[in-house]
Amino acid sequence: MEICRTKDAIRAWRATAEHVTLVPTMGFLHAGHLSLVRRARAEGGKVAVSIFVNPTQFGPTEDLATYPRDEARDLDLLRTEGVDAVFIPDVAEVYDPAAQTIVETTELAKVLIGKLRPGHFRGVATVVTKLFNIIRPDAAVFGEKDYQQVAVIRTMVRDLDMDVTIIGAPIEREADGLAMSSRNVRLTPEDRASAPILARALDEAAVMAPTGVTASRLRSHVRATLEAEPRAQVQSVDIRDAETLETISGPLTRPAVILLAVKFGQVFLIDNRVVTPK
Ligand code: PAJ
Repeated sequence: MEICRTKDAIRAWRATAEHVTLVPTMGFLHAGHLSLVRRARAEGGKVAVSIFVNPTQFGPTEDLATYPRDEARDLDLLRTEGVDAVFIPDVAEVYDPAAQTIVETTELAKVLIGKLRPGHFRGVATVVTKLFNIIRPDAAVFGEKDYQQVAVIRTMVRDLDMDVTIIGAPIEREADGLAMSSRNVRLTPEDRASAPILARALDEAAVMAPTGVTASRLRSHVRATLEAEPRAQVQSVDIRDAETLETISGPLTRPAVILLAVKFGQVFLIDNRVVTPK
């Protein structure tokens, strides 16, 4: 496995490969990330993984400084998965201090998670554009765990004519349903025990969706389920068109996505599920 810490190194590796699928990550890898690596493998060709805790997607009061890191373990896991190259630059390698260009999906960046985390999706879109320009992958895999992130990336690729195929991969969960996340290790034991309420609320919603229920009724039900758990600080519950992320009123007529953002202590968790009316 080639470990590249500079743009020049990863570009030199890229030049030797015919078809490359990229899996962008911020490290502290878990089985969710590794499922994306396997999805990338299935494309044939070579697999590159980037590990970069991107400062521009964290707000000033967010957890950049305490974001968990374990480079040695990450590299071991990727070696075991048969990854071909890892791009693991430091911040100075990626961002020129004089940089003044940003990439932003102007509408999608300000709704849902974008409203809770102003500037977040601009940071994501900008760094992913840079990773695409540096590595020039043919395809890139993103987890549906970050549902809005996949929508942002697809929109950006469409709008800016980027020549890369975006592949969405399903959410990997712990045995008790909690969506895997690098942040889960920061939950207290009590919060960890309560956190599967997100998955349970989504399961209930999936059962209710085909009963002719309205979007607002479904939303209230999900919110009430979450609020019954005293440790959960509900940040947002949204029901949107699964494809366009537009708001829905009245009964569900098309697949809808239920998007949850809940804090436990200082730990911000998200989850989602696509539900169908029939
Ligand atoms: P990170 O949070 O490290 O996630 C990297 C990728 O793993 C994302 O595509 C994310 O959706 C996916 N992922 C995380 N948990 C998952 C799970 N339980 N099941 C399936 N996939 C999962 O997302 C980012 O990093 C960054 O925003 C990034 C795209 C790298 C840009 O900095």
